[in-house]
Amino acid sequence: MSAEAAQLAVRLAGVGKSFGSTQVLRDIDLEIRIGEIHAIVGENGAGKSTTGKIIGGYYAADSGRIEVFGAPVENWTPRRALASGIAMIHQELQVVPELSVAENVFLGMEENVGGVLRGTEVRRFRELDQRCGFGLDPDQKVGALRIADRQKVEIMRAIARDARVIIMDEPASSLTADEAERLHQVIAWLKRGGNAVIYVTHFLDHVMATADRVTVMRDGAVVRTAEVADETKESIVEAMLGEPADVAFPAIPPVPDAGLPPLLEARGLVTATGLDGVSLAVRPGEIVGLVGLVGSGRSETARAIFGADPLLAGEIRVAGEVYAHPTPNNSVARGLVLVPEDRRKLGLVLTQRVRANMSLPHLRLISRWSVVDESKDRDRARELIDHFDVNPRSVDGDIAYYSGGNQQKVLLGKWVYAKPRIMILDEPSRGVDIGARRRIHDFIVEMAAGGAAVLLISSELEEVLGMSHRGYLMSGGRVVGEVDPRASSVGDVLRTLFQASEAARMTRAAS
Ligand SMILES: Nc1ncnc2c1ncn2[C@@H]1O[C@H](COP(=O)(O)OP(=O)(O)OP(=O)(O)O)[C@@H](O)[C@H]1O
Ligand SMILES: [Mg+2]
Repeated sequence: MSAEAAQLAVRLAGVGKSFGSTQVLRDIDLEIRIGEIHAIVGENGAGKSTTGKIIGGYYAADSGRIEVFGAPVENWTPRRALASGIAMIHQELQVVPELSVAENVFLGMEENVGGVLRGTEVRRFRELDQRCGFGLDPDQKVGALRIADRQKVEIMRAIARDARVIIMDEPASSLTADEAERLHQVIAWLKRGGNAVIYVTHFLDHVMATADRVTVMRDGAVVRTAEVADETKESIVEAMLGEPADVAFPAIPPVPDAGLPPLLEARGLVTATGLDGVSLAVRPGEIVGLVGLVGSGRSETARAIFGADPLLAGEIRVAGEVYAHPTPNNSVARGLVLVPEDRRKLGLVLTQRVRANMSLPHLRLISRWSVVDESKDRDRARELIDHFDVNPRSVDGDIAYYSGGNQQKVLLGKWVYAKPRIMILDEPSRGVDIGARRRIHDFIVEMAAGGAAVLLISSELEEVLGMSHRGYLMSGGRVVGEVDPRASSVGDVLRTLFQASEAARMTRAAS
């Protein structure tokens, strides 16, 4: 073994991979050094997850060589990879909803075999939790957790395995800025301990802030590996797309006339999910952001308006009329849709084709005499595929084999298939690449310009501020203020949010 090879945690040389007749990886050379944070970036479908899964032993490479800590590997499996110190956090979270947080974290580890050693487990969980600072309750059922928290469970699980190489495939896709910051501290700590972290992400800010080196992939090949210090966000995007790209937000339409009556109104919404009197209004043509920390009630507000969670008190009005019994079906019939945060859970039928996934909830709209108008359906599906840049571009594609980001795009297509007049978007650009993100933003602008009322939720403050006419600040299940995105910086808003959540905590403590 050469001195240089000894410094490498993982080395791929000339690795190729095909699924059926489609070659998804070509001649991949990748070197992961011991003690480095190595980002992998690229558009949806570029081959990032496939590369990660080959390193983690989930897929076998068709060609090329893999070396781990200098030694070539054969018949690589997840079990062998783990035994060699390689763990993977999957893009499609693999938690078991029926089990508790602690059970998921230690799942399959030796201590659990033949009965759980509660004492040791609890102590180990505390240590891990202190290390990660996520503040999860070990006894909570994972099925009841929001996605961000499920993502934290996955992260803790990888760390609990004492891996020396951790592949993180989009670990921060649903974390807030604050939580992502904590994840980065964990990553920095792993690095200090001499571990290697392979960090697959669409957040180029994270790459710039945390990674040592970055590998850019395009169309199943490596474009280049470079020191992050030698790159800029723009240079990385250019390498990803093969051309210069605009990373800014599109211009949003002019603020609609303040005299227009609201298209969507909520008054004093109270729910068992924690809403404590939420009132808001959105006029036609208006894009309104819900701004808040995780747990502030943003997604809960979206769900209550859509009828996904029952109202205990309060009233919703659509175009001035009381909307008495909100249910998802009634909402869709009124042209009110929610693109939910957890699109996968609420979402795809993996045994179906792309087109069926998009039109399934809307069959009434495209059927005449209860026969589905197939050509109309195909046209609309094709339109949406173009619109969101779904790849592969086929309406008959088998959704189970689409990359994570491309599944997200299909799901988005499903919810906007019927051209809603009120659209609630919860984390719409999560997990999609920079090109698709821009298309989603353009789509929001287009909908608003056409008179739709848009309620936008995003953990990325830049996105809410960049894309909204107006924002409501939420904290503790209430609307605690408004922001004018043009007059406020991300820093201002964050400060206000932390003050508001602190104030809410004091009020709760006092009562
Ligand atoms: N099991 C599979 N069978 C067939 N095709 C697959 C399979 N897994 C992945 N692919 C295809 O391989 C290509 C690369 O997918 P991969 O998941 O690696 O992309 P990615 O870079 O991780 O994208 P994303 O950013 O969307 O997560 C895609 O075109 C995808 O459709
Ligand atoms: Mg992926």
